[in-house]
Amino acid sequence: MAALEDTRVESSDRPVLELVDCGKSYGNVHALRGVNLSVRQGEVTCVLGDNGAGKSTLIKIVAGLHEHSEGTMRVNGEERSFGSPRAAQALGIATVYQDLALAPLMAVWRNFFLGNEVRRGPFLDIDEMKRVAGEELTKMGIIIPDLDRPVGSLSGGQRQCIAIARAIYFGAKVVILDEPTAALGVKQSGVVLKYIVKARDAGLGVIFITHNPHHAYLVGNHFVILKLGRVVLDAHRDELDLDRLTAEMAGGQELDELSHELRGSDPGKVAPAHEVEHGGVPAPEADRADGA
Ligand SMILES: Nc1ncnc2c1ncn2[C@@H]1O[C@H](COP(=O)(O)OP(=O)(O)OP(=O)(O)O)[C@@H](O)[C@H]1O
Ligand SMILES: [Mg+2]
Repeated sequence: MAALEDTRVESSDRPVLELVDCGKSYGNVHALRGVNLSVRQGEVTCVLGDNGAGKSTLIKIVAGLHEHSEGTMRVNGEERSFGSPRAAQALGIATVYQDLALAPLMAVWRNFFLGNEVRRGPFLDIDEMKRVAGEELTKMGIIIPDLDRPVGSLSGGQRQCIAIARAIYFGAKVVILDEPTAALGVKQSGVVLKYIVKARDAGLGVIFITHNPHHAYLVGNHFVILKLGRVVLDAHRDELDLDRLTAEMAGGQELDELSHELRGSDPGKVAPAHEVEHGGVPAPEADRADGA
């Protein structure tokens, strides 16, 4: 823990991860263009954007799944290009994918050590792995009564938290969370947001991908909005408030156009039943058959 604190202080002014003028094309689709991004340890960098904005493409480059086709990526000031996810992991970049975060059929402790198993001679040291997994999860306040339970039986929020705890324990410098709250309800989202803060306080650089400006603003130090593959906003917390972030995210101009289009359609109106039957949604097959 102390070691992590030290790294944080040492490198807080130099980005741990930096993209300069990065681009990525898939054939003639420019998924990303001219993207600049700085991620610092001990900070939460939120990447926001609508569907197709390029968020996942950005993550794939940083996680080593795809190589960028233009620009430069630096890790701790050194230029890098990852040929594989392993190369990114070796430099301390951990990625928590929404669905693939963990192996659902395996026990909690097994998932915690997946790919980093502890051995005693030729055998897996199961007792040790259970002990450490239990200790680390408890330290983060994640209560899982039975570590032998398959991860698939846990809630989506708990799974995300285990993946975050694992990244911290194995010494990640950067943890990328791809829409960790997208499929969660309010309460579980809150739990995941709490662990995002814990990862930040442990000195990690957190990249939090989300559609949700409210979630971003609850935990973010730094906000980047992507639109059609370009950065349209890059601001620190003291430069904007939640209203501005929400407006930028919604695309101020597009909202104006939409409100113009919807003008005259009273949002408070409740359509009378006969309008629904005749002019609105077609009646279900069964009803029509009965009525005939
Ligand atoms: N493998 C691919 N081949 C071709 N085009 C791709 C590929 N992956 C992404 N794209 C295109 O690149 C653009 C950015 O996609 P990306 O998945 O990065 O967006 P996103 O911001 O993650 O969207 P969402 O919120 O829907 O997940 C889109 O136009 C998409 O169709
Ligand atoms: Mg995506």
